[in-house]
Amino acid sequence: MDRWRGRVALVTGASVGIGAAVAKELVRHGMKVMGCARDVEKIQKLAAECQSAGHSGVLVPFKCDLSNEEEILSMFAAIKEQHKGVDVCINNAGLAHTEPLLSGKTSGWKNMLDVNVLALSICTREAYQSMKERNVDDGHIININSMSGHRVIMLADVHFYTATKFAVTALTEGLRHELHEANTHIRATSISPGLVVTEFAQRMYSADKSAAAYSKIKCLEAIDVANSVTYVLSAPPHVLVCDFFSCLINTVTFLDFAFLFTVEISCLFAHNQITFNFRRILFFQIGEVQMRSVEQLL
Ligand SMILES: NC(=O)c1ccc[n+]([C@@H]2O[C@H](COP(=O)([O-])OP(=O)(O)OC[C@H]3O[C@@H](n4cnc5c(N)ncnc54)[C@H](OP(=O)(O)O)[C@@H]3O)[C@@H](O)[C@H]2O)c1
Repeated sequence: MDRWRGRVALVTGASVGIGAAVAKELVRHGMKVMGCARDVEKIQKLAAECQSAGHSGVLVPFKCDLSNEEEILSMFAAIKEQHKGVDVCINNAGLAHTEPLLSGKTSGWKNMLDVNVLALSICTREAYQSMKERNVDDGHIININSMSGHRVIMLADVHFYTATKFAVTALTEGLRHELHEANTHIRATSISPGLVVTEFAQRMYSADKSAAAYSKIKCLEAIDVANSVTYVLSAPPHVLVCDFFSCLINTVTFLDFAFLFTVEISCLFAHNQITFNFRRILFFQIGEVQMRSVEQLL
């Protein structure tokens, strides 16, 4: 992570959960982190914690409602004015509303599209333009996707959310093609965790229901995902981590296995057609024990 020391990273949804853990880790590694969310007080508190912990980087809080494009553009303008621009963009903010396809409210679907898909796309575009105008050729755009971005489970509450995460899979792949065509070495990665203990389920359901869901199985922690982010950023320039999957082995379904097997085949197939190196990481967590299967192609 040494090469990122002093460089600027934007982390969306940095007030709690995965975004807060990622922001903290990047500050620990010496980055200037622009953390945004609606609840800016929580990010201010996190910034103070980072400072008193003596981390070498800094966390700069930005209040931003990502469902509002004007607020996103103002934030990028402020980052440009105060810190020149963004070198790393972590599109993390995301949410699910329990709005089934047969009975859900349009407002809930729109909000999921605004934050999970549109805000991610706007931040990606603005981050790329910021890198391009400063001739930054080693930037990185990381999308916090989900296992829901790769298979559809039989749970009506999450079908629309799943569709937004499938969009993230397509957007990341499309972005990689556009970056390649633009002849830049800026990289794009999708990180797809399984269930992570955060406020996510609590915001979606009640506190009781989410606590019950998290207590049934050993879940990933936000720090596990933050570690995936630093792993991806640490890859040497000739290595691109395209997709990073973090599944829980005790909850892996037949669909997960079928999906992972299919990805395996398609990556081997794609192997002959791509011109850059990549690694795929299958990261399984078995209770307290973590087992990694790292496959390096090329
Ligand atoms: N938790 C899981 O099991 C899990 C699994 C796979 C993938 N993920 C993905 O991981 C990402 C982070 O989720 P999490 O688990 O950390 O959830 P979380 O604890 O609920 O945090 C969500 C973050 O998104 C921000 N956010 C939501 N709406 C926003 C808006 N309109 N404007 C600005 N920020 C907004 C929230 O900030 P404010 O409310 O302060 O604005 C918060 O910081 C999401 O993309 C999610 O889909 C989560």
